[in-house]
Amino acid sequence: MTYTFPITRTQHPKPKPNWDNLGFANYFTDHMFVMHYDEGQGWHDGKIVPHEPITIEPASCVLHYAQMMFEGLKAYKTPGGSVQLFRPDMNLKRMNNTNLRMCIPAMPEDLFIEAVRAIVQADADWVPSGAGTALYVRPFIFADEVSFSVLPAKHYRFMIILSPVGSYYAANDGGLSATRIYVEDEFIRAAPGGTGACKVGGNYAGGMKASEKAMKYHCKDVLWLDAIEHRYVEEIGTSNAFFLIDGEVITSPLTGTILPGVTRDSVLALLRKWGMKVSERRLSVEELFAASDSGKLQEVFASGTAAVISPIGCLHYEATDTDYAVGNGKVGPVAQRLYDTLYGIQTGSLPDDMHWTVTI
Ligand code: COI
Repeated sequence: MTYTFPITRTQHPKPKPNWDNLGFANYFTDHMFVMHYDEGQGWHDGKIVPHEPITIEPASCVLHYAQMMFEGLKAYKTPGGSVQLFRPDMNLKRMNNTNLRMCIPAMPEDLFIEAVRAIVQADADWVPSGAGTALYVRPFIFADEVSFSVLPAKHYRFMIILSPVGSYYAANDGGLSATRIYVEDEFIRAAPGGTGACKVGGNYAGGMKASEKAMKYHCKDVLWLDAIEHRYVEEIGTSNAFFLIDGEVITSPLTGTILPGVTRDSVLALLRKWGMKVSERRLSVEELFAASDSGKLQEVFASGTAAVISPIGCLHYEATDTDYAVGNGKVGPVAQRLYDTLYGIQTGSLPDDMHWTVTI
């Protein structure tokens, strides 16, 4: 099916930011995509309008019961000046899995991809090209039905907003630097049967208490442990986690409590292609800390759309008030190679032999 989305252009284009100092989601583009869902009518009336505040009835279901979801992907400027997306089909797939769990109506595949394509094309002059930058694409859906019933809504809004960004944990020069991460042993992110594998705001809101603690220990983010034993590593606040121990790259398996990251999937594919030993298996804090003590914990890094590949140089564990060293505390060669390869493919400066990019 082909879709056409009417565009109302802004009368007040914003000045462009300083491309060399974008940070993460500090600036938003001139336009946004809006579409409605009504029971019996399906998704309808997609359009592009100026990016501006929206109105929402205070009794809307989302404001009380958090029936919502969001996604995150990026658009990149290639050396030839074209713009490309990275694996948008994976975002669509994850979006519809989240929708199923949250009782939000599914979105047809071509509708999602065409909506992303249309809004990125409308604001293509906002796609940055500096080292480490991209245009972050944030699709989200919320229940805007006026209802206090704790039941799935019959009306929703789908929106896409755009922000030119650097990496979430970028160093001041935009390159890679190793961060400190706080290993959380008190609060949990997701329990089996919950919404851990979904991209929903509640997962993040519930994690902020731990993020506060992380900040207290001068850590950039939280490494979550499993909900049952508070023992097995799961994921990092914004991203999936990888551990290189004695030549084996380990990441948590997708058992329903961690997010199936698009970057996680891409990292696994690249590592396997490079012939590295890769395991999707449980990793306990005992095994992790013993590896650090014996000098076998070579690298730890986070992977995510916002985080890209973010090396971790130290793990802080509050229970024993210990800093566990990771390698030499600096950016490791595997993390650096992954970053260079992924970002190279994403920006078109390396050939896309994995067929991951989509030119818009
Ligand atoms: C992303 O990587 O796209 C995310 O949604 C993480 C977000 C918490 C910044």
